[in-house]
Amino acid sequence: MEIELTGEVAERVAGAERVVVLTGAGISAESGLSTFRAQEGLWSRFRPEEMATPEAFAADPETVWQWYGWRFGQVAGAEPNAGHRALVRFAALFPSLVLMTQNVDELHQQAGSEGVLELHGTVMRARCTRCDYSEPMAGALERSPGAPPPCACGGRLRPAVVWFGEPLPPALGEAAAAAGEADLFVSVGTSARVFPAAGLIEVAYRAGACVIEVNPEATAFSGLAHLRLAAPAGEALPALVDAFECCRGAPG
Ligand code: OAD
Repeated sequence: MEIELTGEVAERVAGAERVVVLTGAGISAESGLSTFRAQEGLWSRFRPEEMATPEAFAADPETVWQWYGWRFGQVAGAEPNAGHRALVRFAALFPSLVLMTQNVDELHQQAGSEGVLELHGTVMRARCTRCDYSEPMAGALERSPGAPPPCACGGRLRPAVVWFGEPLPPALGEAAAAAGEADLFVSVGTSARVFPAAGLIEVAYRAGACVIEVNPEATAFSGLAHLRLAAPAGEALPALVDAFECCRGAPG
């Protein structure tokens, strides 16, 4: 795939200083991980209110723990793809780039991205429901695959993800501030249906950012995009970063 940036988008990219990228499950689809809202997606096979809420964990901790154990297994077996890797190159072009993700798979970090803002936490760690203790999910599952293990403080461990109805982590404040100051905002592989993360696209647009959307399907925010790339992230992002390099002059 080849992308040539023209007109306003090319000018905005050439002059951009504050760059934000928001990713969702779509960027990890080509790594073999299911998205949530596709026809065969996770939320077509499981009910979010039975798996991803504090109430579900209180009512049936074993089922919720085992489900996250299964998801951990999928994620642990996955590798970053060309889309994740392209974002590492993207950050080399724009040193102030802020990468924020709704994904819990740590594939951005595995690809080499730094300072990733995890808006929905991570499935790679377990944390205590009561104290500040946390540890790698792998060890917690090995000790106790069937039920959440107890913490030394008397609480119990849970996946270090954000569930529906829970407050978002402090990273959201940083993310909102970055979106509000962005000159260039790239949204990748998110259906933009879950707030407040989805609202960051509009925050950036209203603040005057040039908005680029990478998603094979249209979303509620497609109308705000100055450029829409209706292609898989693994193809579109490497081509987009090549085009950015042309606009900016490659580093080094
Ligand atoms: P969704 O499953 O809602 O949306 C995934 C998006 O990725 C869709 O718009 C697809 O069209 C797009 N997509 C699919 N394959 C793609 C590819 N190869 N390249 C680019 N895009 C592709 O996932 P999210 O928007 O991430 O939250 O969902 C947001 C949140 O809802 C998740 O973080 C999770 C979920 O419930 C919690 O569990 C709290």
